[in-house]
Amino acid sequence: MNYNKKTVKDIDVKGKKVLLRCDFNVPMAKDGSGVITDDKRIRAALPTIQYLLAEGAAVIACSHMGKPQPSFDKWVQKQTEKGKDPATLTEAKWQKSLAELTLAPVAARLSELLGQDVALAADVAGPDAQAKAAALQPGQIMLLENTRFEKGETKNDPKLAKAMADMAEIYVSDAFGAVHRAHASTAGVAEYLPAVSGFLIQKELDFIGGALAAPKRPLVAILGGSKVSSKIGVINNLLEIADTIIIGGGMAYTFSAAQGGKIGNSLFEADWQEYALEMIKKAADKGVKLLLPIDTVCGDKFAPDANTLTVDAGNIPDGWEGLDIGPKTVELYCNAVADAGTVIWNGPMGVFEFAAFAAGTEAVAKALSQTNAITIIGGGDSAAAVQQLGYADKMTHISTGGGASLEFMEGKELPGVACLLDA
Ligand code: 3PG
Repeated sequence: MNYNKKTVKDIDVKGKKVLLRCDFNVPMAKDGSGVITDDKRIRAALPTIQYLLAEGAAVIACSHMGKPQPSFDKWVQKQTEKGKDPATLTEAKWQKSLAELTLAPVAARLSELLGQDVALAADVAGPDAQAKAAALQPGQIMLLENTRFEKGETKNDPKLAKAMADMAEIYVSDAFGAVHRAHASTAGVAEYLPAVSGFLIQKELDFIGGALAAPKRPLVAILGGSKVSSKIGVINNLLEIADTIIIGGGMAYTFSAAQGGKIGNSLFEADWQEYALEMIKKAADKGVKLLLPIDTVCGDKFAPDANTLTVDAGNIPDGWEGLDIGPKTVELYCNAVADAGTVIWNGPMGVFEFAAFAAGTEAVAKALSQTNAITIIGGGDSAAAVQQLGYADKMTHISTGGGASLEFMEGKELPGVACLLDA
């Protein structure tokens, strides 16, 4: 896939209405108060927004937020699947679940950051959005309501895509976090408008794409997280590219079990043992160093106050579960990172949310902060860990995309990028 795309700088936006897709899917306080707990994604969109406004464009921004169910029946079905009693599922509760996913708090925060008014449309491409878009003047910005309030969004319905496109003359995508979704606002609209990328997408493509296509070597990939099954694509793809692959997190226990190790109550995917063995063989055939944990910090329960025990890998006693990499593994992994030219990190080494099992993830984050290598942090948990541990400003690039950065590293085509004009 071609990642060399036209950007906002390659198109004349002066006096034009620009539909700008952002990823404003920001974390909100759980109490329904509408408080944004991390506005990183809003701030990451500012360079493109400010450029467009300064160039005299009228900006119609849009984004999804969460996973609202735009139909009551579907909402009931989803809630029932989650174990809720259908008798308690009222239309009022469904409406409340939608109201909690309004983009109103985003419009307010964006307005504060920009120092200018950001009007929120009451709909996505309905009468209010259309009226507000028609009245919008160059240098002004408005925000459409949560795109997923429309049934057609996730189905990439051409009718919705066209209705959104009809309000504008140019489409700019800066929603890197959503480029792995082929939705109406991330890909469909590009059928109807000249489509270019914003600065955030460019930055993500440059850093992640650069690290994958022409890395400064040695390229070390650190892969953690709980399941092998969720990282198959990444392991497969990186085996073709990386010099060293480091495995940590819960998925290491499936590798250990596959090699005959004792893993106690650790996370384990029986069906993926054969795959784990294949990967070990493939790495050896290709001359890629595959590093697996050599010791493990175990807990006697999955809880912050669990008793702990450190054992050699593959020797976890019954009744215990592996929850972090051990000190010998930390040393091995940190040494591998020290000599790297490029490090890509996706997924924590252990249950870093519990202090007793955070040492492995913390040590890796620290090692990355001290290396001279280019350090690229995939979004999601690893980005959260780096931030929480205070190393964020020491990394070369922290992706704003969780699923998107993972699919990028898997070598998959990203529909939200593929739909943009080639440079
Ligand atoms: C994310 O948070 O990773 C993006 O906003 C995409 O959200 P989604 O997984 O709900 O599509």
